[in-house]
Amino acid sequence: MPYNFPMRITTHTIKEYKKKGKKVTCLTAYDYSTAKVLDNSGIDLILVGDSLAQVVLGYENTLSLTMDEMLHHARAVIRGVKRSLVVVDLPFLTYQVDSKDAIYNAGKCLQAGAHAVKLEGASEDILKTIEKMVKIGIPVMGHIGFTPQSVNALGGNRVQAKTATAAKDILAQAKALEKAGCFSVVLELVPSEVAKLVTENISIPTIGIGAGINCDGQILVIDDLLGKFSDFTPSFVRKYADFAKSTETAIQKYISDVQNGKYPDTNESFFLAECESEKLKSPNLN
Ligand code: KIV
Repeated sequence: MPYNFPMRITTHTIKEYKKKGKKVTCLTAYDYSTAKVLDNSGIDLILVGDSLAQVVLGYENTLSLTMDEMLHHARAVIRGVKRSLVVVDLPFLTYQVDSKDAIYNAGKCLQAGAHAVKLEGASEDILKTIEKMVKIGIPVMGHIGFTPQSVNALGGNRVQAKTATAAKDILAQAKALEKAGCFSVVLELVPSEVAKLVTENISIPTIGIGAGINCDGQILVIDDLLGKFSDFTPSFVRKYADFAKSTETAIQKYISDVQNGKYPDTNESFFLAECESEKLKSPNLN
């Protein structure tokens, strides 16, 4: 009997999309149940982003996140996914210092069941590390423009490549990442024209976040899209729901129901069989 395998999205599928002019849809996830919903909804790529640090763990920025924390969440996401491509972000200091450590940490992500890793930057050292990873079979997604792990050096969350010279530099970085073997590259916080220039001049898909309409795909942080994370919302985010508000309303209703004896009702409770219940009415309970 023929078996209907769910079609797995692979790094090759994502690269094919660019040739066909099909947009790549990407979102972050950090837990099992959210990953399952995203997978069932048909999202192409799920990133276990290091934005985990801020939106789930409450750190000020991504720098505090550890490899163990990332793996813990990555495993939960992977357990919820059957079809989407799962990419795991390598946290700060897990790949910049030494390429052996980088390969070891990326390998741990693949051993956990991820399909690829993402790392930031395109310096000579990073490019060499990417080449080594790709050579041993670890697919890599690049990330340039605003790179959150360099937030201190970049002077805050700012749009990058605002001059023609800087735009050409971003293009050179994207080409270098393509040459190093990346299967795609995230462009974060760059002007639309710069994203267009890069997208038209490399063969791997560009995935934009705050980079305008001209990228081959888009990614957002799931908590921003759902209106769950209320500390700050970048101007490029489109909120498709207001979870913070609807969750607060639901919880206030629950508090009121408990306080007023309206929760639980009989359908939400368990009862003894009548004969057992009768025995409990007897004065001799011993
Ligand atoms: O960590 C993250 O959420 C990211 C973005 C590109 C979505 O890297």
